[in-house]
Amino acid sequence: MFKRLIIYSTTDGQTKLICERIKSLSKFNNQTKLLEIDEAIKENLQPYEVITIGASIRYGKHSPSVLNFIKENLETLKKKKSVFFSVNVVARKEEKSSPETNPYVIKFLKLTKWNPNKKEVFAGKIDYPKYSFLDRQIIRLIMFITKGPTDTSKSYEFTDWYKVDDFTRKIDEILA
Ligand SMILES: Cc1cc2nc3c(=O)[nH]c(=O)nc-3n(C[C@H](O)[C@H](O)[C@H](O)COP(=O)(O)O)c2cc1C
Repeated sequence: MFKRLIIYSTTDGQTKLICERIKSLSKFNNQTKLLEIDEAIKENLQPYEVITIGASIRYGKHSPSVLNFIKENLETLKKKKSVFFSVNVVARKEEKSSPETNPYVIKFLKLTKWNPNKKEVFAGKIDYPKYSFLDRQIIRLIMFITKGPTDTSKSYEFTDWYKVDDFTRKIDEILA
């Protein structure tokens, strides 16, 4: 039976990759179900002991589906063990790489009134060739302003996979 649920909200796949890594590395891999946020909204959460939500940032915001999911299930999340992490590129900067210092995580937790047992933030990926023309120009400008990479023919992965593995162990410790 599945006892742990990992839910992801992604646009370009990086958050899904992180969630897949967490699941595959977890001691509880066989008891863990992985669901996309729009599937998760239809899921009965009662059987799960630990619920993890990973969500990426796009133009300053987590997806409305994530906010809606938490609003709908806040009481259930409070009764269970829960985990949240955000994926964004601001987190590539050392001084914004913890849940206490990342502006998106701070704002999100305040807005949702959810206090997960474990919180984290991971730097994501800039995948210029994959973006629409407009997105590419805007992201390039933001990268230029924030001293990030601006070569639009390339992809840049900032995700620290050791940090992901460390966090997996911390999630495993809940109810272990
Ligand atoms: C159109 C677009 C807008 C983005 N806006 C932000 C932003 O406002 N702040 C930020 O830190 N990262 C921003 N990012 C970076 C994403 O959070 C990063 O690419 C992340 O890896 C995306 O995760 P996903 O593939 O799971 O959606 C943006 C990326 C794109 C493509």
